[in-house]
Amino acid sequence: MNAQGAQAGQGEHSGHDAAAAAARAGTRLDPWFTSYADRAHGMRASEVRSLFAVANRPEVVSLAGGMPNIDGLPLDFLAEMTAKLLRERGPRALQYGGGQGEEELREQIVEVMRYDHIHAHPDDVVVTTGSQQALDLVTEIFINPGDVVVAEAPSYVGALGVFRAYQADVVHVPMDDDGLVPAELDRTLTELKRAGRTVKFLYTVPNFHNPAGVTLTLERRPQIVEICRRHHVLILEDNPYGLLGFDADPLPALKSFDADGVVYLGSFSKTFAPGYRVGWALAPHAVREKLVLASESAILSPTMMGQLSIATYLSTYDWYGQVKEYRSMYRERRDAMLGALAEFLPQASWTVPDGGFYTWVTLPAGLDAQAMLPRAVTNLVAYVSGTAFYADGQGRDHVRLSFCYPTPERIREGVRRLATVVHAESELVSMFGTAPHHDRVGDSVEFPSPDQV
Ligand SMILES: Cc1ncc(COP(=O)(O)O)c(C=O)c1O
Repeated sequence: MNAQGAQAGQGEHSGHDAAAAAARAGTRLDPWFTSYADRAHGMRASEVRSLFAVANRPEVVSLAGGMPNIDGLPLDFLAEMTAKLLRERGPRALQYGGGQGEEELREQIVEVMRYDHIHAHPDDVVVTTGSQQALDLVTEIFINPGDVVVAEAPSYVGALGVFRAYQADVVHVPMDDDGLVPAELDRTLTELKRAGRTVKFLYTVPNFHNPAGVTLTLERRPQIVEICRRHHVLILEDNPYGLLGFDADPLPALKSFDADGVVYLGSFSKTFAPGYRVGWALAPHAVREKLVLASESAILSPTMMGQLSIATYLSTYDWYGQVKEYRSMYRERRDAMLGALAEFLPQASWTVPDGGFYTWVTLPAGLDAQAMLPRAVTNLVAYVSGTAFYADGQGRDHVRLSFCYPTPERIREGVRRLATVVHAESELVSMFGTAPHHDRVGDSVEFPSPDQV
């Protein structure tokens, strides 16, 4: 939407007439443009979302999305389980529930978190609508406009969207193959303090990072906790992929080093199924109270049907066996991706994930991931440009490739197609010094339809 157009629209019409006129005209004019709260102007369709429509076409190999592959789920068992749940506990499952979530499920969540070496009490768990809502609630209760959130460079695009919506300033801290760099975190926090900035929390994904694919080493974990404690900065530890390690059991969570200094977020989306929309926050007592109040005001209560379904699944199915199946399926796909990168794209470099869904690729010098994307889609392969994962415009030399959803064969074909585009682009760069730029990927960019390519 363009501000001038909107204002012209408001000048000619008013109120509902204008909305109706805009709708009738079939234009993208937004007569309410000047009415939005300041924070709404910071909301943009993410590059991932803008891509969904094209990337989901069957002829495109999408290495873009983070959708878990749930083909292996026991659907017959789940159908039986759901029927039984409705027959035996229907009135409860279909009713509103408490704002904090069902105690039965919170007790099970405490058991699940033992894999992360966390010893918690169910009273300190708040069930949320996916961990995405937990991200939103934590940000809502801590952030005033202009407060600083310190976050890894790069960071999960969905978290950056929340921080932007609450008008936080995100300051990135570098990572390397061992995760967030403690000395850089210390330096950044010291500089921010010297500059008089208010830092509210560190947002971090220590395990199988989205999008970087790296994991914070055991050695660094207590160091990160100590640095944040010293600077009196809360840690927001986001751990949706923690149980999906390919070779080893989970490392101790940051939360296990400092129960009072960390809000830990978990989710059943990647270890079971995202459609239930159940995640959680484990928070220090006082913070937990605020989270419950904020959640009640947002949604009254988390889904009862989802909570009781997951509680039944956890208590009646070999859920950890299912997690192990996911691990071996994703490991095979990771291997397919790394093998294909070595074969087709040796001039790039990439991280080697020990779990999760993603690898982070550094393109050959001079290439621009954002500018290259329309050409990649024309070549029937999609990725997410590295720029989506920074609040400050970095990331053009990176792409995130996800190996979670396509089959190993499709992953190989996708990387082969991507390599064709990279090679063509590299030739342009070596001939002209730069490749011709396309517009930023967004609502206004029209991708070619399959019959045009
Ligand atoms: C790092 C991270 N955090 C949070 C989420 C949100 O997950 P959900 O709301 O499904 O629990 C995702 C989803 O991809 C993620 O990758």
